[in-house]
Amino acid sequence: MSKTVIKAATVVNEGKIDTCDVLIVDGRIEKVAPQLAVVADVEINAEGLHLLPGLIDDQVHFREPGLTYKADIWHESRAAVAGGTTSFMEMPNTVPNTLTQALLQDKYDVAARQSLANYSFYMGAANDNLDEVLRTDAKEVCGIKVFMGSSTGNMLVDDEHTLQSIFASSPMLIATHCEDEATIQQNLARYKATYGDKLTPDMHPLIRSAEACYISSSRAVGLARKHGTRLHILHISTAKEIGLFESNIPLADKRITAEACIHHLWFSDADYAEKGNFIKWNPAVKTAADREGVWAAVLDGHIDVIATDHAPHTLAEKSQPYGQAPSGGPLVQHALQALLDMYHGGRLTLEQLVQKGAHNVATCFQVAERGFVREGYWADLVLVDLNKPYTVSRSNLLSKCRWSPFEGYTFKSTITHTWVSGKLVYQHGELLEKGSGQRLSFDR
Ligand code: DOR
Repeated sequence: MSKTVIKAATVVNEGKIDTCDVLIVDGRIEKVAPQLAVVADVEINAEGLHLLPGLIDDQVHFREPGLTYKADIWHESRAAVAGGTTSFMEMPNTVPNTLTQALLQDKYDVAARQSLANYSFYMGAANDNLDEVLRTDAKEVCGIKVFMGSSTGNMLVDDEHTLQSIFASSPMLIATHCEDEATIQQNLARYKATYGDKLTPDMHPLIRSAEACYISSSRAVGLARKHGTRLHILHISTAKEIGLFESNIPLADKRITAEACIHHLWFSDADYAEKGNFIKWNPAVKTAADREGVWAAVLDGHIDVIATDHAPHTLAEKSQPYGQAPSGGPLVQHALQALLDMYHGGRLTLEQLVQKGAHNVATCFQVAERGFVREGYWADLVLVDLNKPYTVSRSNLLSKCRWSPFEGYTFKSTITHTWVSGKLVYQHGELLEKGSGQRLSFDR
């Protein structure tokens, strides 16, 4: 039996902040109480530090198999745990696309050997794989991913009959990327007619426009209402889309939920001048007014969870001209630090941070026994020093692509320790060599 006790931590959990000791026995939280009198194998003095449930990131692209020159499960899971994210849900636009149960299983096999964080992998939908999609085990897989807008990996599902069938018959949560392809193509043609090949990153939100997002998100919501589907719309980036969601229903009863991402909460179109393609994402980072709209929705419950859409590409790829540079960038290592800066800036409370980044993700996906600091649950925990500055530099980047839109930026807080399923995987910059991540399971 292995025992760890974390002493005198300021525990942020389920709407409360209390100073407590936390006892971990064989991977699980055994006891949370003030001043536990126990003898443990490991004792961590957490006086002055805040203990949070590890973040659960419901949208990452770790690129394995097939694109491992950009990223892989081992590197990206190290970046995740160093940043306080203890579980991730990974997307199917790898090579090959995750369109069969066998290919899905291959990913689980790699993660079982390599991942430092807990993991789950989305089954991918295409125009022609409904039979495979329907064989997905809802208790063992986070969801079905449907690209209702094209992005990296050519996984657009645009066949009306297929969309109707998937929404009508999915055995589980469907997560969608919503951007209307016809609108994007029309905008692109217009911009090309005017600017030729001289398109620049600041045009990205005008080509991948707010209207493209609204048309596609409305369509997804319409399909879900018609069929009673459990729908989760990823990376909401505009103020207008907020009206599609509800805030007055308990999360566990919602059939339609929404996600906001760090980049849409942090950046606005004013940042393209400095950051260029390094903040080129799909959906695009849009106006400051859109950012404010997304923030308001996060705080009032129209948007349920916060994630990253961690989507690494190489520095060489991102350094190409706008038209060639792929969309996406690495974020998973700095998600919690960015959120803690937003806390310092008065944007959200620590309780709200933990709710949107951990509790609600667990509730939304019905993740079993994780996402809360609760006795009997797995000990997925992160300890942070709120007042220890941390500067992002190439030398401390852990994602395989070794660049970050935050390079050179100094966060106000530092992650000091991370436990995954009770194992201390990260401590003051040191990482365990190989993973102890477990496969997530779902109470469905
Ligand atoms: O910007 C993005 N990049 N958005 C996506 O939906 C996909 C991602 C990627 O895989 O590169």
